[in-house]
Amino acid sequence: MISYKDLGLVNGKELFAKAMAGRYAIPAFNFNNLEQLQAIVQACVETKSPVILQVSAGARKYANQTLLRFLAQGAVEYSKELGFKVPIVLHLDHGADFDICKSCIESGFSSVMIDGSHLSYEENIKLTRKVVEYAHKYDVSVEGELGVLAGVEDDVSHEHHTYTEPDEVEDFVKKTGVDSLAISIGTSHGANKFKPEQCTRDANGILVPPPLRFDILEEIEKRIPGFPIVLHGASSVPQDLVATINKYGGALKDAIGIPEEQLRKAAASAVCKINIDSDGRLAMTAAIREQLALHPEEFDPRKYLGPARDALKELYKHKITDVLGSAEKA
Ligand code: G3H
Ligand code: 13P
Ligand code: ZN
Repeated sequence: MISYKDLGLVNGKELFAKAMAGRYAIPAFNFNNLEQLQAIVQACVETKSPVILQVSAGARKYANQTLLRFLAQGAVEYSKELGFKVPIVLHLDHGADFDICKSCIESGFSSVMIDGSHLSYEENIKLTRKVVEYAHKYDVSVEGELGVLAGVEDDVSHEHHTYTEPDEVEDFVKKTGVDSLAISIGTSHGANKFKPEQCTRDANGILVPPPLRFDILEEIEKRIPGFPIVLHGASSVPQDLVATINKYGGALKDAIGIPEEQLRKAAASAVCKINIDSDGRLAMTAAIREQLALHPEEFDPRKYLGPARDALKELYKHKITDVLGSAEKA
């Protein structure tokens, strides 16, 4: 059993309490390689932001759980070496069952998500409760989920949202003992969050997606005042990145995300954790495609991964400073 405390990591609870009081959200950035981790740590140190490093089941398969844990441990040391130790949470994203949560807790994760959102309400409570009972013995925080997001996460794909039912949240939180709750109010995973026909056009002809269901969020806040809420599927899909990818040979079609003003509004509410993965993927891909197209003679991976890392860092700094409001909160 490796305790996250010995690795210099922190759990989510204390960070959420501060985020709630300060009306900002902690960034939860997914990572599965060295350059992403370097970009995250550099961005968080430069902005003095706390951070949640997220590992999905797919990331574990791709990079190996042990290597990822050592990378996260390295992130703590790297942050100190850069001159400012930011609070770092190592979190399992979309844990599908008890065993994956247990395995992560035993290998040094400080936080896990148990995603029972596809189960019946009663089964979701039962599974989530079991993970909470185990995790809390080790002071590991647990995120549960109610409501289903459209889109793809690992092998599970849902075409339609099922918005979170405000009448269920109080009972769910009480019966499971979770530390935070992911909800569904209109976000979804991936870079194609809306179909063009769901959007309207502004005066410049830019597609404007339907707004998030802030009415549902408000109802939820009334039922569980002061309880930390999590927003998944919160990438904005910056259109300049999509254009760069497509300019240099990519084929992204109808890529539409959540407007940043809406995420800013959410971050100032009970939403304490905002998950961003796809925007990082877009920033990296745009930079790599551009570098390869402009410098076809290069074959040293550092020549294109380096600029990709720099582009990622700038994206994360922008999210922290201009969207989530977590700069200077470390
Ligand atoms: O929730 C989904 C995250 O973006 C993780 O994606 O399962 O492809 O690693 P992944
Ligand atoms: P995006 O696909 O919108 O980045 O969402 C990521 C996410 O929710 C990870 O759990
Ligand atoms: Zn998610």
